[in-house]
Amino acid sequence: MKHIYQEGKEGKPTLLLLHGTGGTEHDLLPIGNMIDPDAGILSVRGEVLENGMPRFFRRLAEGVFDLEDLVVRTKDLNSFIGQAADDYGFDRKNVIAVGYSNGANIAASLLFHYEDALKGAILHHPMVPIRDKELPPLNGTSVFIGAGTNDPICPMEEAKDLKSLLEDAGAEVHVHWENFGHSLTRTEIGAAADWYHNKY
Ligand code: MLT
Repeated sequence: MKHIYQEGKEGKPTLLLLHGTGGTEHDLLPIGNMIDPDAGILSVRGEVLENGMPRFFRRLAEGVFDLEDLVVRTKDLNSFIGQAADDYGFDRKNVIAVGYSNGANIAASLLFHYEDALKGAILHHPMVPIRDKELPPLNGTSVFIGAGTNDPICPMEEAKDLKSLLEDAGAEVHVHWENFGHSLTRTEIGAAADWYHNKY
């Protein structure tokens, strides 16, 4: 997968940066830096193109996901992280996703499918990636959800349902609410950074 890797300081997590629809691996670099300038960075570009816009999995309509494609792309991303850990020599068990919108959805899908894919995740404006699925045990996994009370793309119920599904699997989840629609604001990033520094 097309990506950017930047080595972090010894013992620091690697931030897996996952952009929103129409983004690239460059988009979230400043946010990764705001969250932890000492962390490693693995920033990946989604391989699906929707009218020329990169995404991490196909959708049939806005908010309606192609679930078969989601499952395959989630597996591919998980394998890619493992391969990158081998190639670059970072700790596969110390990866924290930072995703926005479509990138948050594939990060949530990693959590829904694999027990050890992520140590933690910062999900900006996510949805429930797939329903009616038994989650793997996620004890010891911490998740920050940034959501909008008036997000037209990700309704409040999506963030609330995502929180309960992750908690039922054993994850510890914190939800931060904003009221700027689907936008990723500086205050939301600041809240994510505070949460991260309390944990790691
Ligand atoms: C998705 O398709 O993953 C969500 O609707 C968010 C987005 O617009 O990317």
